[in-house]
Amino acid sequence: MSDWIQGRVVGKHHWTDELYSLRIEAAVEPFRAGQFTRLALDIDGERVGRPYSYVNAPDEHPLEFYFITIPHGPLTDRLRQLRIGDPIWVGARAGGFFTLAAVPDARHLWLFASGTALGVFLSQLKTDEPWRRFDKIILAHGVRTAGELTYRNEIARFSETHGERFVYVPFVSREETDFALSGRIPDAILDGRLERRAGVALTATTCQVMICGNPDMVRDTAAVLEGRGLKKNRRTEPGQITTENYW
Ligand SMILES: Cc1cc2nc3c(=O)[nH]c(=O)nc-3n(C[C@H](O)[C@H](O)[C@H](O)COP(=O)(O)OP(=O)(O)OC[C@H]3O[C@@H](n4cnc5c(N)ncnc54)[C@H](O)[C@@H]3O)c2cc1C
Ligand SMILES: NC(=O)c1ccc[n+]([C@@H]2O[C@H](COP(=O)([O-])OP(=O)(O)OC[C@H]3O[C@@H](n4cnc5c(N)ncnc54)[C@H](OP(=O)(O)O)[C@@H]3O)[C@@H](O)[C@H]2O)c1
Repeated sequence: MSDWIQGRVVGKHHWTDELYSLRIEAAVEPFRAGQFTRLALDIDGERVGRPYSYVNAPDEHPLEFYFITIPHGPLTDRLRQLRIGDPIWVGARAGGFFTLAAVPDARHLWLFASGTALGVFLSQLKTDEPWRRFDKIILAHGVRTAGELTYRNEIARFSETHGERFVYVPFVSREETDFALSGRIPDAILDGRLERRAGVALTATTCQVMICGNPDMVRDTAAVLEGRGLKKNRRTEPGQITTENYW
């Protein structure tokens, strides 16, 4: 990947005690929606960097990133303490293949995110490409508590702009709500609740699926889909499932 360039924090939003977003001004090279760059801070004389997905679309400025604070995490605790005007190292060049270029055409596009992986899909949904290529897009976001269902205004704007072509399905696993599906995404695929809520069938012949976030969620969701006949997308053999793990 990239050389470091110095960026500056120009905006900060705390969604919950653990979840926050930073806006950063930095002259990065062009990237594709779905890609990530590395962010770094110099901590005790050492540059500590980690990959983070762009939340902003490629043509939007400032850059935006969405984080969770990991208890005792070497970088996230320090990122959380940044203030407007503080410097931050940003990788000039983006990396990763979790983009729509890797996804074959289909009628419906399903996007499955856990936690902060929501961000990678927001970047893609802000571009024209998914709306040009798919009739209907279903975004399922799985979190522990309702307060972690973030970016609701941006998500509402997709509905305002695209009407019934966009379906948002929130999942909350550790408390009861009167609006989100309860439990985990793969369980709701298995028992049919997700398709009933979305009003769309999840089949190998009509769908492409992108899954991102917690590697256990990615694995378990892909396994349930494979049980229904969907296959992993490979360069040599196109399928229906494209994945990215955050750790
Ligand atoms: C391609 C890619 C893109 C990523 N994009 C993002 C992003 O946009 N936002 C983001 O918050 N993180 C993202 N991550 C994870 C990020 O790189 C760091 O691992 C995370 O911020 C924790 O950093 P840390 O130094 O505090 O702890 P680390 O030592 O890096 O991680 C410690 C542990 O924390 C847990 N963990 C790490 N990341 C997450 C997470 N996002 N949600 C829940 N638990 C986690 C895992 O159990 C991990 O082993 C991405 C990772 C990859 C590989
Ligand atoms: N979120 C918090 O309230 C909170 C608070 C303090 C610290 N943290 C730290 O943040 C990290 C976790 O962050 P997070 O809550 O964003 O991520 P997470 O643990 O990945 O949970 C996000 C969602 O993914 C679900 N999930 C987990 N494993 C799954 C699987 N195999 N299949 C399907 N769904 C699955 C979770 O369901 P389940 O709930 O059923 O696991 C939850 O709904 C941890 O390091 C934690 O210590 C989180």
